[in-house]
Amino acid sequence: MRLAHALLLALASSGLSQQAIQFSITKGPPGRQVGSTSSALARRATYSEKLINNISGAGYYVQVKVGTPPQSMTLLVDTGSSDAWVLSYKADLCINSDSTIECVDTFNPTKSSTHKLVNQSGFRVKYLDGGIALGDYISDDFSIGGTTVKSLQMAYVTKAVRNTGILGLGFSSSERAATKYPNIIDQLVDQKQIGAKAFSLYLNDRRTDAGAILFGGIDRDKFIGPLQVVPMLKSGGTYSSFEIDFSGVTIAYTNGTIVNISSSVLDHPAPAVLDSGTTLSYLPEEMASPVFSAVDSVFDPDLRYNLVDCGYLDKEHNLSLTFQFNNTATIVIPIRELVLDILGNYKIHPSVPFQRSCLLGIQSTDIFETQGTVKQSNFTLLGDTFLRSAYVVFDMSHYQVGLAQANLNSSTTNVIELSADEPSSLSSATGVAAQQTTYTPTTRPITTLSSASDSASDRLRPPTPLSELLGIIAVTLMSTIIGGAFAII
Ligand SMILES: *[C@@H]1O[C@H](CO)[C@@H](O)[C@H](O)[C@H]1NC(C)=O
Ligand SMILES: *[C@@H]1O[C@H](CO)[C@@H](O)[C@H](O)[C@H]1NC(C)=O
Ligand SMILES: *[C@@H]1O[C@H](CO)[C@@H](O)[C@H](O)[C@H]1NC(C)=O
Ligand SMILES: *[C@@H]1O[C@H](CO)[C@@H](O)[C@H](O)[C@H]1NC(C)=O
Ligand SMILES: *[C@@H]1O[C@H](CO)[C@@H](O)[C@H](O)[C@H]1NC(C)=O
Ligand SMILES: *[C@@H]1O[C@H](CO)[C@@H](O)[C@H](O)[C@H]1NC(C)=O
Ligand SMILES: *[C@@H]1O[C@H](CO)[C@@H](O)[C@H](O)[C@H]1NC(C)=O
Ligand SMILES: *[C@@H]1O[C@H](CO)[C@@H](O)[C@H](O)[C@H]1NC(C)=O
Repeated sequence: MRLAHALLLALASSGLSQQAIQFSITKGPPGRQVGSTSSALARRATYSEKLINNISGAGYYVQVKVGTPPQSMTLLVDTGSSDAWVLSYKADLCINSDSTIECVDTFNPTKSSTHKLVNQSGFRVKYLDGGIALGDYISDDFSIGGTTVKSLQMAYVTKAVRNTGILGLGFSSSERAATKYPNIIDQLVDQKQIGAKAFSLYLNDRRTDAGAILFGGIDRDKFIGPLQVVPMLKSGGTYSSFEIDFSGVTIAYTNGTIVNISSSVLDHPAPAVLDSGTTLSYLPEEMASPVFSAVDSVFDPDLRYNLVDCGYLDKEHNLSLTFQFNNTATIVIPIRELVLDILGNYKIHPSVPFQRSCLLGIQSTDIFETQGTVKQSNFTLLGDTFLRSAYVVFDMSHYQVGLAQANLNSSTTNVIELSADEPSSLSSATGVAAQQTTYTPTTRPITTLSSASDSASDRLRPPTPLSELLGIIAVTLMSTIIGGAFAII
């Protein structure tokens, strides 16, 4: 997760209150906000993030257990960072009596007989606003999807910036630790739980509240057609984040007109970073701008985001965006996936002409420059608004990514195991023939999340293993939101 959710900050700071923004749980997550500086972007020193401090977040979460006897934790799933971290039961954010933040689950190492201190004060993340998350590195037993990794190194955060921990799934080279260590993916392989450093991410339809993450395997019922394989890109000489070559976007209008927006309009590469910890997707300005025209979006100068007519959601529109990678692989995003009805009663700037305004799921990376978080927007950041339409296999054993159109709302499984010895497993994997359920346009009433007691834990169900197969660990991903945050101001 690289980027704070400036939207939420804007809303928070605009003095709107209490029920300023309402999210509907049934419609999937609203803005993920947040803040950890992470992996590749973090390493480019200027890419540190704007932090939305102390505000609860929405996201895709897994439930894990840490320690002996096991303590349950809810962690945000983040392909954009590489450390797992848990919140201390003594974290400032959680015990501060002024705070209206409710920490979802915290960890108490004194109650775990398997806990070890690895490096006191060894974990430190600095955010753009000067906020700093601090903690120790510890190790303890860590259970996910019904399997247990012994003595996993993780951070134990005492000075916190968000109310849940994070499960970073990136390359260990991007860990915050001075001495790199085997992280969860490495350990799942080292401890022979899975056969390849690989996992598959299925965020699923925005209107449903559960996706899936599968460690060590591919679920062929969850995608359509052949997996398209593209190489991961190195940055600074190593594989450090899930970056792939981004060739451009094609917009298909309902009337048959096609507009190609090639990355060749840029005078530099802008590789795409696949980041489940970021809510929206961001294109370099030169590419975002024709997208804005195509969907008639309008920039809200207060919010500093492009807004779009919510009318797109009322009926099925054929307008779609096709993202192309490495000149070959494509993922199609229907416009409805890019129209986020999360603004509630936010007072839209008078210059925005829509009867009802929605947040556009694609924005310009310029926003980071104007926020001062990055100097040059030489990247494309594909967050949840992109990832939900895709099935993505992160094959870290072979430095490749498998991409296919997601078969949304799939309720069946057909799992194959991946092996470190067989790099070709991905390119030979084929999913179902076509989308198996039918999208139904709905009007989208906004439900109310009223109080801080609407904590994530109320909404989370325990993970359900999808498969008993050896060498595969299946975990249900819950997309959820936390409403109480908006009572802060
Ligand atoms: C976050 O917490 C810090 C210290 O606990 C406090 O100074 C700050 O005002 C809080 N910010 C928000 C937005 O609540
Ligand atoms: C512990 O963390 C500190 C701060 O990051 C670092 O300087 C030190 O080298 C670390 N010690 C080890 C053994 O990694
Ligand atoms: C969308 O495409 C389908 C088939 O391609 C067509 O039947 C339908 O009329 C189109 N809808 C619009 C709004 O153009
Ligand atoms: C299709 O619609 C787009 C956007 O409204 C317009 O720019 C284009 O000229 C239209 N093409 C045709 C063939 O009507
Ligand atoms: C857009 O790209 C597609 C596929 O690469 C190509 O078939 C089409 O001719 C291009 N259209 C324009 C207007 O460049
Ligand atoms: C596309 O992928 C192939 C291998 O799959 C690789 O050789 C080639 O360099 C890639 N092209 C780009 C532009 O990344
Ligand atoms: C970004 O692109 C500029 C050219 O516009 C180049 O000078 C710079 O080195 C690039 N930075 C990174 C981090 O790729
Ligand atoms: C998936 O399920 C949700 C909730 O039932 C529904 O709103 C949506 O239309 C479905 N999407 C597809 C593609 O079937």
